[in-house]
Amino acid sequence: MKSQGRTPLMDVLLSRAKRDVTSFHTPGHKNGQGVDPKLRAFTGKNVYKLDVTVFPEVDSLHDPVGAIKRAQALMAQAYGVKHSFFLVNGSSSGNMAMLMSACHPGDSVILSRNAHKSTLSGIILSGVWPIWIQPKVDQHLDIIFDSDAAQVEEALRQFPEAKAVFITSPTYHGVTTDLKKIADLCHERGKLLLVDEAHGPHLKFHKDLPISAVEAGADMCVQSTHKILSAVSQGSALHVNSDWVELNRVRKILSILQTTSPNYFILASLDAARRQVFFQGEKIFSRLIRLAEEARERINHLRHIYCFTQGEIRAKGYDLDVTKLTLNVTRTGLSGHEVEHRLAFEYGIQVDCADLFNLIAIMGTGTTRRDVERLLSALEDIDRKDPGHERNWVLQLPSLSTEMVMTPRDVFLQHQAKRVPLSKAAGHISAQTLTPYPPGIPVLIPGERITKEIQDFLLDLADKDIRVSGQETDTLRTVKVVSTR
Ligand SMILES: Cc1ncc(COP(=O)(O)O)c(C=O)c1O
Repeated sequence: MKSQGRTPLMDVLLSRAKRDVTSFHTPGHKNGQGVDPKLRAFTGKNVYKLDVTVFPEVDSLHDPVGAIKRAQALMAQAYGVKHSFFLVNGSSSGNMAMLMSACHPGDSVILSRNAHKSTLSGIILSGVWPIWIQPKVDQHLDIIFDSDAAQVEEALRQFPEAKAVFITSPTYHGVTTDLKKIADLCHERGKLLLVDEAHGPHLKFHKDLPISAVEAGADMCVQSTHKILSAVSQGSALHVNSDWVELNRVRKILSILQTTSPNYFILASLDAARRQVFFQGEKIFSRLIRLAEEARERINHLRHIYCFTQGEIRAKGYDLDVTKLTLNVTRTGLSGHEVEHRLAFEYGIQVDCADLFNLIAIMGTGTTRRDVERLLSALEDIDRKDPGHERNWVLQLPSLSTEMVMTPRDVFLQHQAKRVPLSKAAGHISAQTLTPYPPGIPVLIPGERITKEIQDFLLDLADKDIRVSGQETDTLRTVKVVSTR
């Protein structure tokens, strides 16, 4: 498609940057002239010439009529969707916008608890009732799977009033669920399918990668173009591909959520990343898939480090983006955090994240064979040096409470909360989000009735002095609950 060779927004910005334009607009550094010299000496001066404000030549993100409108249309064409919105606050803002535009306060949405924290922000902002599906814990691979089609079907049967289903696919580990089946289940019942595809902006562009959300039939999805493709951080997209979604409503909601001073370097990088993946995606991802599979094979010859395979994931009814390397280090006797630290400070390699069990090494358009070699030789070194012994850590998740007594929004907005001893918390309504790592999934969410099982799970963590994200206090001896006084 010839039109995909165009980059209208990048072109406008580059051509303006090359002209001698005196700036009497924000930002204050005026084409970089006022930037701290040390910073400018490092970055060079050109990048500041892309840092402009809204004026007709560069168009407005909130009301696009020119270059941004054309760049978004090309993005929509590349992904085969009705409309694409550029995001300058990552998929985080996209997740909030999806929930806010698909639902009205009081609607209910089916979703797995294995969702990014921005999803909970979206639940609070939109005022919906979440209907949680218990995520599946795999104690062999030490990872958590998002909902499968059977779980979604059961939830739709139990909660026919749900307005939408919200799925995270791929997960952080690159695992995708059967979105095609889930889309059919949703559409047969007149429900919207919303997908957090933050980790999947590349899927559409290679036949050996799992099916993308839009191709599977999602009504809306968000993608972090910056995570795997070449956009700079925060550059993401929200795709709408449904007549059931009102585009003007999405536009208005994004206007609420996004800054009026978007960074045009981010926007230009979205335009460039789209063109790159459209023309070179097949080649880039063929190379990355080959590199990743070679790496996986070498890692799986090590004594103590393991990287699960597509075959293993498919056998469980899911699919895998093989370019994501999940490195299980439990047999080294070290935690994922410890290996992350050693990789960073002894070998100069930084992975994307780590937990007790795994490290996640993410490949992207810029990954080279040399990078992968460097990672492999570091892992081989760690594997050789370590005596290796299995720790008896177990990935656990209590049965999550499914009794939402109040919406998270009502709890968030109301002031009447009190602290009660954790040992007496069962029966109260949580006014807090508590997320232990692992499993990295909130075990309590505002508005939920605290069960005895969750109370005991948290008490056990407190006894072991394990810090829980969201605990607010030095030790987890009390929890904040809704005060009914
Ligand atoms: C599954 C998932 N969704 C959404 C996000 C948020 O994406 P962003 O960083 O682009 O805001 C992340 C970030 O890591 C994520 O892992």
